[in-house]
Amino acid sequence: MKILAIETSCDETAVCVLDAQGALSRMEFSVLGNALLSQVEAHRQFGGVYPSLAKREHAKNLVPVTEMALSEAGLSIPPGKKIPDAVREELQKLFVREPELFEAFIPFIESIAVPDIDAIAVTQGPGLEPALWVGINFAKALSVVWEKPLYPINHLEGHIFASLLENGIIAEPSFPALALVISGGHTELLLMRDWLSYERMGQTLDDAVGEAFDKAARMLGLPYPGGPEISRLAELARTEGVLPPVVLPRPMLHSPNFNFSFSGLKTALLYAVKNIPEMTPQVQMGFAREFEDAAVDVLVHKSLAALTESGAQALIVGGGVSANATLSAALAHAVERLSSSIRLFIPSRTLSTDNAVMIGLAAYVRSCGGGEPSSLASITADGNLSLSSKN
Ligand code: KG4
Ligand code: ZN
Repeated sequence: MKILAIETSCDETAVCVLDAQGALSRMEFSVLGNALLSQVEAHRQFGGVYPSLAKREHAKNLVPVTEMALSEAGLSIPPGKKIPDAVREELQKLFVREPELFEAFIPFIESIAVPDIDAIAVTQGPGLEPALWVGINFAKALSVVWEKPLYPINHLEGHIFASLLENGIIAEPSFPALALVISGGHTELLLMRDWLSYERMGQTLDDAVGEAFDKAARMLGLPYPGGPEISRLAELARTEGVLPPVVLPRPMLHSPNFNFSFSGLKTALLYAVKNIPEMTPQVQMGFAREFEDAAVDVLVHKSLAALTESGAQALIVGGGVSANATLSAALAHAVERLSSSIRLFIPSRTLSTDNAVMIGLAAYVRSCGGGEPSSLASITADGNLSLSSKN
């Protein structure tokens, strides 16, 4: 099954073509074409993602990014056909809020033949709704013109399956499995008793951990996105033996549940930074080290408690913060100590942050699990889309 997948939930415009086969017990994937345009530079001046700018950038980038992914897959083959007027009118209605995308869409579609794909997948949520809508409307338009079914996909599920992909294969983890989703918008512990089944064990009560990294970086005068910056400085502090200037709190470390809180950690850092007479590079490194250690301590402690409570046989870590090397090393160590039979899944670097491959993976797993494509009219963006049936 060849799937064209589209991701526009935040500040990456990403499209890929994936070839997938096999059943749930062993699914094989090859990436035929993969393109991604990051908007990080555009958002940096705002110190975070600016939704209306993200929407505009997606509208500008979707056609060239799709063209790149299809070309790489060898599926961008001229000539195309003129779009009949009736279809054109239908498309114009779809793109009523993105006229610039409509202007680019028509010549692109008319320049190539219908590509040899079986389905289209698009992120439905969670994420920034204006950004999600651009991808959804674009995917619907492709679905109309190419007459291909469309799968709406949960972004968090994409992060989970990206973590399970090893050498092009997703093999069944032992269930129950625990998923730790840690990104710029989410911090959740989800228990999977089977494929496509999620019970939320815990979540952040305020900021997401990635968001806390981004805000902490800003306080330290580091650029957006802050996670990789903090991580780089923390590493430098460790190799150079720079000690933290303060001890920061580990919020909710011993709370009798699996919830998280990161806003107290952020505020503690803010006060500590204000009280420092001079922000030298050494002090900055020390703060980065202590902030990272505090966040990692809480994530590891809560994940371990949830593993113990649930008896889960695997820990699947997904989302941008899973790129943090201190975290993955600490988790590996802690899980090994808990039980050598528990498997830890960490996504490869390129699949840890947002991408379209994970959306294609999730569409295929969904289809293997009996999921059907949705009618176009029923697909709407949902900024708060949840994965869990039990909240
Ligand atoms: O999954 P993702 O790409 O986008 C969302 O779905 O939110 O995650 C982005 C988040 C950002 O907050 C970024 O700072 C964080 O992941 N991040 C990291 C690292 N790399 C990315 N946080 C800590 N350490 C890293 N190495
Ligand atoms: Zn994400």
